[in-house]
Amino acid sequence: MKWLFFMTFLYVAISAFSDLGDTPPTEIPEITNKVELGQKLFFDPILSLDQTISCASCHNPDHAFADNKAFSAGVDDSIGLRNAPSVMNMLSRPYFFYDGRAGTLEEQVIVPIEHPLEMNLSYEVAVQRIQSHKEYDTLFQLIYNTQPDSFNIAHALSEFQRNLESDGSAPHDLWLNGTDTSAMDESQLRGREIFISDDFKCFDCHFGPDFTGDEFRNIGLYDGTTLMDQGRFAITQDSSDLGKFKVPGLRNVALTAQYMHNGMFETLEEVIDYYSNPYDFVAKPINMDTSMIEPLNFTTQQKEDLVNFLHALTDEVIPFSNRDVNVNQSTQQQ
Ligand code: HEC
Ligand code: HEC
Repeated sequence: MKWLFFMTFLYVAISAFSDLGDTPPTEIPEITNKVELGQKLFFDPILSLDQTISCASCHNPDHAFADNKAFSAGVDDSIGLRNAPSVMNMLSRPYFFYDGRAGTLEEQVIVPIEHPLEMNLSYEVAVQRIQSHKEYDTLFQLIYNTQPDSFNIAHALSEFQRNLESDGSAPHDLWLNGTDTSAMDESQLRGREIFISDDFKCFDCHFGPDFTGDEFRNIGLYDGTTLMDQGRFAITQDSSDLGKFKVPGLRNVALTAQYMHNGMFETLEEVIDYYSNPYDFVAKPINMDTSMIEPLNFTTQQKEDLVNFLHALTDEVIPFSNRDVNVNQSTQQQ
């Protein structure tokens, strides 16, 4: 009996193996537009010095296009200085980076390519690489009617990112637009009330469709001793900007740990503990927003409700999210 079982197993194994051999190689889906071309570039390590790091290494679809580490590793395992944020919902942003130093996505994409702690490749060399890559050359000729150049490479990458908008499938969206009035549970509804109430101020800064007013604000994470990132000030040299950072949008925030420009919080619970009493974490913040000066002192229930509310901002579907995907390989639209 055992023998028969073994032979059957062997047969199945062999035929499965030979089936594999007979299967024609999976066809590469056709790339026909700027978004798909940008997608190919986004997932391709060709844009880094040693061809090991792609944009997706730090902006991983499984984490809503953010990284799950406080600081991401670039080429040669060099460690960056800020937390990699999600690059979803970039379409309506007026500027990019925590200090807002780029005004357009086209301007922004060149920064990580050239950044010594990220991809560490001069953009000029990156452009030459893409030009001498046969497949890219053909695709750019086809889609942009010209060879790859510094403009269309940045444009394609930007078009891909402009296409990564949330699709309105988060429980809060379904509840808000009336598609599904039971999409949010009691705790999430209470959390929402806290979030939008005048007493607790979240909505002062995190408002609008993507939960950001795109302003620079200081929530107390600069003290000039252990917390040294001056944020917006480094760009404007205006002392009122000291310690201000771009207010991040909160869509899919439950997937994008760690939190803040320096990734100092590992969980949303910690973030809420911080907002409850910032001084428990930073004794002497410099230039903190006046709305943050009085601790909010949330109850345990309020903290839980706020965290649950933030979970209701998670999209049902994140594009390209697939635990099996190798973020350092060219992938195709699924
Ligand atoms: C080694 C990690 C790493 C790589 C590789 C990387 N990024 Fe980033 N990205 C970051 C970090 C860190 C920040 C935040 C930096 C800051 O605010 O100063 C960031 C910020 C951004 C932002 C701004 C988001 C916002 O909310 O303002 C965009 C857009 C972006 N990256 C796109 C890209 C693209 C496109 C590529 C590939 C060409 C890329 N990144 C490669 C780490 C990385
Ligand atoms: C004064 C403006 C302001 C108020 C009020 C405010 N935030 Fe923020 N929030 C910010 C800024 C600015 C950051 C980014 C700070 C940084 O990275 O150093 C941030 C970051 C966050 C983050 C982390 C996002 C990420 O991707 O790292 C969460 C979550 C958050 N806020 C939720 C809330 C909640 C909940 C409240 C109300 C209790 C609130 N915020 C009140 C301005 C504000």
